[in-house]
Amino acid sequence: MTAKLINGTEVAKAIREELTVEVSELKEKYSIVPGLVTILVGEDPASQSYVAAKNKTAHALGIHSEQVTLDVDTSEEDLLALVDKYNNDPKINGILVQLPLPKHINEAKVLYAINPDKDVDGFHPVNVGKMVLGEECFLPCTPHGILELLTRSGVETSGAEVVIIGRSNIVGKPIANLMLQKRNAGNATITLCHTRTKDMAAHCRRADIIIAAVGVPKMVTADMVKDGAAIIDVGVNRIGQAANGKAILAGDVDFEGVKEKASCITPVPGGVGPMTITMLMKNTVQAAKMAANLS
Ligand SMILES: NC(=O)c1ccc[n+]([C@@H]2O[C@H](COP(=O)([O-])OP(=O)(O)OC[C@H]3O[C@@H](n4cnc5c(N)ncnc54)[C@H](OP(=O)(O)O)[C@@H]3O)[C@@H](O)[C@H]2O)c1
Repeated sequence: MTAKLINGTEVAKAIREELTVEVSELKEKYSIVPGLVTILVGEDPASQSYVAAKNKTAHALGIHSEQVTLDVDTSEEDLLALVDKYNNDPKINGILVQLPLPKHINEAKVLYAINPDKDVDGFHPVNVGKMVLGEECFLPCTPHGILELLTRSGVETSGAEVVIIGRSNIVGKPIANLMLQKRNAGNATITLCHTRTKDMAAHCRRADIIIAAVGVPKMVTADMVKDGAAIIDVGVNRIGQAANGKAILAGDVDFEGVKEKASCITPVPGGVGPMTITMLMKNTVQAAKMAANLS
């Protein structure tokens, strides 16, 4: 079997087209322009490129976007004051503080300072709590993107055995929570694996769906995959540099081997990655609608 490719670039494009229509309707009918601010502390090249991509996408969709870049030595107090300023700025519906922050800043303190109604990353405990309870809230972008990929690719999750590898707060734990909810792209039976899991390969071999969010290149190999399983590869690992200077990326799944056994699979790049930024835009539009009591 050669797996069907789950093309995140195409799915993201379709959602962005829907959002463009929604943004222009908000403007025409209600004079509302959704606003996003991204706050970056320091000059980490990967963070710089993530923030630039977020602003570029926002701009392309007609979302007002502001980018603030602060010196790496910025104090926690000054960063908290900036977050507070945007909490009170009616032009801004979504506040994104790019992680990781420098070590002298308490990340949790900053994330918790964001007004939960502007927490478009979905990391504030109010939103995390609502997500676990199955209430309406901002869903964290990468897990939200995975749900959209599964739904739009017709992967059945109800009753499926899902093995998730990785238990981070931004991917593993939230996707596990979301897929056990009684709703679309949910109703699955979840196994969550991590470094203390005894026989991960055995868990994987009985999975209908494997979601790998580990950060170890090509860790999931064909011998760990059941025939016909659906594979979502979240990993983004730099494994080298091409002659043109561009990073060579690999996922957490050995794509070439696994695609011969799986029924469908996301590539890296071009799978989960494009969905993450797209769901940030979706949350920002949602925040603007909420602020105007439209949803
Ligand atoms: N495409 C996107 O938009 C996107 C978004 C976010 C992340 N990512 C990528 O996804 C990957 C994971 O990111 P993350 O932030 O979730 O990572 P993380 O915070 O480093 O967590 C990694 C998780 O994997 C587990 N793990 C590590 N090595 C393992 C092993 N050998 N066997 C079993 N479990 C193992 C860890 O277990 P312990 O908890 O026991 O340490 C941990 O729970 C990275 O490659 C990252 O770049 C991509």
